Formats: sequence, structure tokens, C-alpha cells
Amino acid sequence: MCGIFGCICEAAVPVLVDGLRRLEYRGYDSVGFAFISEGRIIVMKDKGSIDDFVRRVDLDSLDSRIEVGIGHTRWATHGAPCKENAHPHLDCTGSIAIVHNGVLENFLELRAGLQARGHAFSSNTDSEVIAHLVEEGVRSGIGLKGALASASSQTRGSMAVAALSSAEPDRIVCFRRESPLILGIGPKGVYCASDIPALVKYATRFFLMPEGSLATLTRGGFTLESASGEQIDPCAVGVDWDLAAVDRGGYAHFMLKEIHEQPLAVSNTLRISAEYVARAASLLLGKRILLTGSGTSYHACLCASYLLNSLGFDARAIISSEFEEHLKGQPLGEAVVVGVSQSGETADTLGAIRHAKRLGARVLGITNTLSSSITSLSDAYLCTQGGPEIGVAATKSFLTQLVALEMLSFRAALASGSLSRADYEGVVSEMASLPAKISSILGRLDRLREIALKYADRRDAYFLGRGMNVATAMEGALKLKEISYIHAEGYPAGESKHGPISLVEPGFLCVFVAPKDSSRQRIIGNVMEMKARGAEIFSVLTEGDGELVEVSDEHFEVPESPEYLYPVLCTVPLQALAYYVATYRGLDPDRPRNLAKSVTVL
Ligand code: AGP
Repeated sequence: MCGIFGCICEAAVPVLVDGLRRLEYRGYDSVGFAFISEGRIIVMKDKGSIDDFVRRVDLDSLDSRIEVGIGHTRWATHGAPCKENAHPHLDCTGSIAIVHNGVLENFLELRAGLQARGHAFSSNTDSEVIAHLVEEGVRSGIGLKGALASASSQTRGSMAVAALSSAEPDRIVCFRRESPLILGIGPKGVYCASDIPALVKYATRFFLMPEGSLATLTRGGFTLESASGEQIDPCAVGVDWDLAAVDRGGYAHFMLKEIHEQPLAVSNTLRISAEYVARAASLLLGKRILLTGSGTSYHACLCASYLLNSLGFDARAIISSEFEEHLKGQPLGEAVVVGVSQSGETADTLGAIRHAKRLGARVLGITNTLSSSITSLSDAYLCTQGGPEIGVAATKSFLTQLVALEMLSFRAALASGSLSRADYEGVVSEMASLPAKISSILGRLDRLREIALKYADRRDAYFLGRGMNVATAMEGALKLKEISYIHAEGYPAGESKHGPISLVEPGFLCVFVAPKDSSRQRIIGNVMEMKARGAEIFSVLTEGDGELVEVSDEHFEVPESPEYLYPVLCTVPLQALAYYVATYRGLDPDRPRNLAKSVTVL
């Protein structure tokens, strides 16, 4: 997820810098600007944050009469963070500049075609193909707007773009498909941005660009039209945010915002190019698979280990801090270690990976941060495409880890022959339904607010699941304990009778992750064991499961799905439960005590 900002106003340079600063929560590994000055396009960009950039580059030397500019703050998805991969990207002639937020699925084939037609590329990003496609359109005489419309018809994937052309120096042309783009009009200018925080200081009227629409911004305002050229009446959106809330996109906390970003985050994960996934999956073939991570990332490893074993692989999940102890110097020449980490900087996971490499293992990194130490240590890697996650509690990074690991597992099963092509296509189709299913759950979170109010004063809770949902239960327990400080424990439901059940007394909260999967009949038995001792039962279950509703004190339904999708779907209500309990307890979910977003110490 990146941040785009554009403006047409007097003294555009400082406005662009300020607007981009308000979007840094969307990405901050590199930054860049393009301005039109005396009929030419000037591009300034570099790796690093905006503050680093402003310290290094003397923006005051730019002409104060500059009125048209676009800017971009990047969260690397394709191509490591560096000056060449920073946006804006230019066409071959240097007369067209674009900034892009999104993930293009077919950029490799587009790039090959453009290169075959003589285009030279200066980055290895997906976004740069847009600049060259626009170049071809402008060269054919259809102008910047027509060229951007043509470019958007050739690309597949999420795409919010702002573009400049020195041939049309008085305007910015924008296109929007899935990734958000908002237009603003104020007393001093016209603006476009990925999110409202960049606009609140300058605009008084706000307009969300419709899906698939094109906007042309000039000094006097903007026009909106569909890709086929029909005029669209802009629809104003109300914005009553104070500047303090602005950086959280209007949500009370980053954690809640990031819970709600999960449909888009997962859809971007599902867009990881098939070629990348196949290449990463090939590392798993014929190998002993050791998955390692810490905290939430370990839970993703655990969940994936069940799936991989069910697909015929030999997979084991090991907590990073125990990795070396657990393997005691075993040679790992026949193993592949899958290192999972949102930050890519967790010291325990880095330590496990370095240890594994010393013992001869290949390493596959699954991180949300391309420019991370784990990524650089890996023989191959997948970026989970979750976008920056500011809240300390992992939310969208977990769901995107689960989805990336499932894509990897099924693709490896196809390659190994344990999954037929028809079954693989069926899985791909089912996974494509995830964003909509997550959205349907997000539309019912008020139910969890009510349930959370009942549980906000509890001291203890068990989270119980079976199979892949042992990991889901452990993740739900971790969420609750780390932000509400309630002692919550997640473990296999079948373990209850081996000791833990002695703690259960009337009113003891037991949260069951009990969707309609292969272990549902057995988990009903576990529910009844707890119920018989007076436990209070909250079940996350499959919609329509009347039998389980009957024996639960509270329940939350998730859409009927194949077994392997339930960990993704059942996690969402548990995230929200933890969030609402923490806020009812007057705590700040974004900054839980004693914790850091990335634990870079052993
Ligand atoms: C999860 O909510 C916590 N923030 C923590 O357990 C986290 O998952 C763990 O520290 C691993 O971080 P990583 O994914 O960046 O490696």
C-alpha cells in the first residue's frame, strides 16, 4: 500500500511535501515528487522517509512558481526500496511521469511486450509499465487522459494513478481501480490523494473517485468520466475528521483501521503473480519443510503446517526462539526453512534463519516488508502485500500471511502432483471469494461490540480449536491478552481433559473456534465437557449451525467455506473481540504496555 498526493495550487512544492507526510502511514521506504516547471517535468526521488529526503534535497531551490505536482510515498511490493524503484516513474522521453498505488498482476507480460517494442526500463517495479503504456498512447495522439484510459485497459490489478505530461502542463490526470483515490477542492487549489488525511488541511469538498473512473484536474476544478468517456457527476463525501483522527483515516485506532483494511490487503495478496508463487513453491518440493516465526507469525506457520501435511508434505512449525534448541545441530541440507515475519526484522526469527543456513537449509522468506533483513537472507521470498501495519497487534499481516502460505502450499501440491489441476483451479476460485467474505464479517462487527461488553471484566479465558484452528485459537488468545491484559490461553480443544479443565468453574469464558470442518463433531464434545462444568461458551461457527448455536451462550457466524479458509475467516471476529474488550477496559489497542511492533532484540 502506498500514498499518492497531487495538487494544482500556488507554491505547490511545500503543499506536496506536507500532503505526503500525512500519508506516510501508508508506506515510508521511499519517496518522490514530479513537478512541471517551465514546461518541463522535474523528478526528485530517493530511498528513505520524507524527512530524510527533505534533509538531503534542497526543495527551496525549486521555483516557487511551480503550481502542478504529484508525489508518492512507497511501501515496496515489487522491487526492493531504492532510488530507481521509487516513484514517480518516467517514460522513455522523460515527458510523462506517473505515481501508482496498487499491485499489477500482468506487469511481467506487459513489460516484455514494451521492451520488445523498444522501451527501456529503469526500475524493476510493476508500476513503471504504466508510464511506458501512457507514452505509447500519447505518442499515438490520444492525449494524456486517453493514454491513461488505454493503459488501464491493458493492465490487470489494483491501480490508483496520477499522471503528468509536459505536453499538457496545466493538468493532472488520475485513474482509479480498486485502490482508493479521493479528489479535493479548496479555496486555493485542486487536489488528489490516496486517503483523506492528505486533503483535510487544503480541501473543503471531497469526492471519492468511482471505480474505473478517470479525473482531469486543472486550476478551475476537475472533470470525471468513465473509461469509455461518459461524463460522471462527482459525488461529495462528508468529512468531519479532526486532524488528530486524520492520520488514522477516521478510525479511533490504527488496529481497527487495519482490521477493516483486510479485504483489500487479502485481495492484494491474492494478486501476487502466479509466476512468483510457482517459483517460491518450487523450493518446497522434495524437502522437509520447517516453518518458523514468532508470536502471530508463528501461528501462521502452525496453521500452514497442518495444510502442508494434509497435502502430502512433511512440514513442521517451530517457534523461532526454540528453533536452534529444537533441532540441536541436525544437518538441514534436505530441508527448506520458511521464515515468516511481518517486519522481517524479528531477532528470534533472524537467528533461526541464520542457524538454518549454517546447517545447509534453503530459506524461503514470507514477509510484509521487502526491504527487510529476512528478505535479504532468503533464497526466495514472497511479500504478503499487507501494506504498512502500524498497530502493535498484528491483524491484516496475519491474514495475508495465512493467504500467502495457502497460495504457496496449494501451488506446491499442484507441482508435486498431490493436487490435480482441476482441484487447484477450484481452490483458486474459492480463495478469490475471501475479500467479499471478510467484508461480510466486517459488516457485522457491532455484534462483537455487544459480546465484548459482556466479557470486558473477565480475568481468564480459554481459546480452543482443532486442526488448523488450533492456530486460530492461539491467535485469538494472543490478541486478547496482548491488548486487554486478560489472561487468555489458546490450545488444542482435545487437550482440555488433560489438565486445563481443572481451572473451569461456573462463568469461566471458553471461546471455541468451531466452524463446520472435519473436526467439528469432536469439538462439539469439547464444548459439552466445558459446558458441563459451568463454562460460558462463545463459539465462532459456520452460519446455520443450529446445533452449536443451541449449546453456546454467545456465537458469531462466518460464511460457509472450504475447511482451509476458516482460519482466515474465524480470525476476524476474534481480532474485533479483542479490540472492543481492550477499548471497553479503557486501554489503547495501538500501544499495549511492554510490547513493540518489531522485537529486534533476542
Ligand atoms: C502479534 O500481535 C504481536 N505483535 C507479536 O506476536 C508479533 O507477531 C511477533 O513479534 C512477530 O513479529 P514479526 O511478524 O514482525 O516477526
